[in-house]
Amino acid sequence: MIKYCNECRTFFMDGKDFTYAVRVNSAGYLTRAYYGKKIEHANLSYFNREIVTSFNTGIPGFKKQYATIMQEYSTEYLGDFREPALVPVDERGSRVADLRYAGYYMLPVKPAITGMPTSKGGETLVIRLKDTDTGLAVYLYYTVYEAENIVTRRAVISNGTSGSITLERALSFSEDFYDCDFELMTLWGHHANEKTPEITPLHHGRTTIGNIRGTTSAHHANFTALLRKGTTEEQGEVYSTSLIYSGSHYESVEVDECGRTRVVSGINPESFSWKLASGEEFETPEAVLNYSDEGLGKMTRQYHDFFRANLVNPRWVNERRPVVLNSWEGMHFSFDRDRLFDTIDCLKDSGIELFVLDDGWFGARNNDKAGLGDWVCNETKLPGGLKAIADRCHENGIEFGLWIEPEMVNPDSDLYRAHPDWAIAVPGRDAVPSRNQYVLDFSRKDVVDYIKKAMYDVISTSGASYIKWDMNRPLTENMSYMLPADRQGELQHRYVLGVYELARYLTLEAFPDILFEGCSGGGGRFDGAMLAYFPQIWSSDNTDVDDRTVIQLGTTMVFPMSASSNHVSLSPNIRNGRPSPIATRTNIAYGGTFGYEFDVRKIPESELKGIPAAVEKYHEIDDIVRNGDLYRGTDRTQGNESLISVVSKDKKRAFVVYYQALNPHKMNPVFRIPGLDGKTVYRIKELGLELPGSVLGNLGLGIGRFRNDFGSVLLTLEAVD
Ligand code: DGJ
Repeated sequence: MIKYCNECRTFFMDGKDFTYAVRVNSAGYLTRAYYGKKIEHANLSYFNREIVTSFNTGIPGFKKQYATIMQEYSTEYLGDFREPALVPVDERGSRVADLRYAGYYMLPVKPAITGMPTSKGGETLVIRLKDTDTGLAVYLYYTVYEAENIVTRRAVISNGTSGSITLERALSFSEDFYDCDFELMTLWGHHANEKTPEITPLHHGRTTIGNIRGTTSAHHANFTALLRKGTTEEQGEVYSTSLIYSGSHYESVEVDECGRTRVVSGINPESFSWKLASGEEFETPEAVLNYSDEGLGKMTRQYHDFFRANLVNPRWVNERRPVVLNSWEGMHFSFDRDRLFDTIDCLKDSGIELFVLDDGWFGARNNDKAGLGDWVCNETKLPGGLKAIADRCHENGIEFGLWIEPEMVNPDSDLYRAHPDWAIAVPGRDAVPSRNQYVLDFSRKDVVDYIKKAMYDVISTSGASYIKWDMNRPLTENMSYMLPADRQGELQHRYVLGVYELARYLTLEAFPDILFEGCSGGGGRFDGAMLAYFPQIWSSDNTDVDDRTVIQLGTTMVFPMSASSNHVSLSPNIRNGRPSPIATRTNIAYGGTFGYEFDVRKIPESELKGIPAAVEKYHEIDDIVRNGDLYRGTDRTQGNESLISVVSKDKKRAFVVYYQALNPHKMNPVFRIPGLDGKTVYRIKELGLELPGSVLGNLGLGIGRFRNDFGSVLLTLEAVD
């Protein structure tokens, strides 16, 4: 609920458990008056955290110091020396914007952002700020999600001056906290090690994360969380943010000399500038601000509910997902039609429901050195084309899926030979190689239109009901042959808009009934915006059980479990040689959308025989994966074990995966099961036990010792009537 108090010039935004208040101060600045546990509405102007250091800057005509303002959308060079959200450079070279409150209006429904995914929403507050000196205006958008304790924010920069303005930075939001009694949680990583939670102390000065790779990247999720000291899974205040954006992003947390904290986030200014002609507007991506008064667990569940209800493509969010076998780890590029037919024939009655033909089916793509861009099936390798493969799948009672990487081109390809200027590069300079491929210039409409048609042609004739969209290199040398010199800084953002346009066209317009899975060298482009097109995303190329517990922990810290695509692979793991029992590989993969990824001819007969039962088991619990609540017990970043408990919304069903890395030579595993209803008695199918939720949640369970390292157990619980 959003209310404006005229007398105290304050906007109050209330969720179930929080209040967010912004106040217009006597000098006309929009200030953060309060954000935290829900409070009664009152005049908050009495609260004055005076900054008393000398040599600060004054606001002309007022007795206030600029440095004391808790800015709601910060600018620079007026005397606030903290991080700015906006740097608009006008034709004179001035970088100053003195933004003061200039009114507000309410919209009954949240408007979409042009060309970018936006979460659905109702009543939206728009506050207008205007530069005192020029025609520059900023519109701040706020939408409250009461049940999820979330506020979304974004900004629209409007050039009402008579000349052009170059935005050197236009972040989605800034927010100030009165204190710095926090720790900072981020999700860092790299290829095959995505989204490792890391908690560090704050210090005076700036802590910045983000990246300039052109995609969200495996290296940092576009997420920050400020944790009150002592926060755990179940208690403590958490103020977190997640950006609905798929390009280079920037997050900064700054503690100033007076112990206040400023958080900003948005498109990374290092790889961005944007020229706004007179009368034009720039829309920033949306940011999700999530407040939890009950630790990280509640934060996670709020994100999951929010994304599922407001962003994930509604066609798929609650749809049963097929259990796939993906060809990559099992075959890489070494396949021909006979090998595929053999594999597909093995899948008859295996329980596996869809076969995905990964990289290598098109052009001269026999390794990663050639062929990207030539989206025509290689009929020497696959006589009869994709249709023959799809037909073979259908004859065996399974569906067919196909891999694509539409944003890329190998220099050794017909496409590149015909259109070298379609790749992002600095003309006349040797391009930086990465996996032997270049990035197509999706800032260009002609390039996106060409790929739209190429993809349409291939997908519509392939017989596929599932597509895996991959993206395997970062953007470098950010230059487009089409953009003038003073607009080259726009390339990365325009590229992202081009990706969204292709994704929108393929997933929502051309093939709404095909399930699209996202991928970027594993989980390199895993963000809220991608979920609007890809209800599931390949979390990592690392399928080892032990590493995967951490990767999935970080991934589902923010994103819904069903968005995390997880596959059971061979043991020992092809990446790190670690052996693990099939039961554990299966149980860990159950913590998301489930599938397989190996050469069926190489797995032991006993493992093959176990697949139908494993798939059946998954479908017993997959509705809770899609719409239940995730509770975490201990996790692998803190010790030898991890536990997830996934509970249906009505608390009548749950499943639990307990995992132990090394098998200690001591007592048997004991664990508590969080998230159950205390009074409800649950039957634990696998143990033949019936116990109340309060007992399971407090005393817990002891199970028999494992025989090996990397042991695990899956328990399914049902309320006894
Ligand atoms: C990277 C992906 O993460 C893998 O799953 C696989 O699709 C390869 N690319 C194919 O090149």
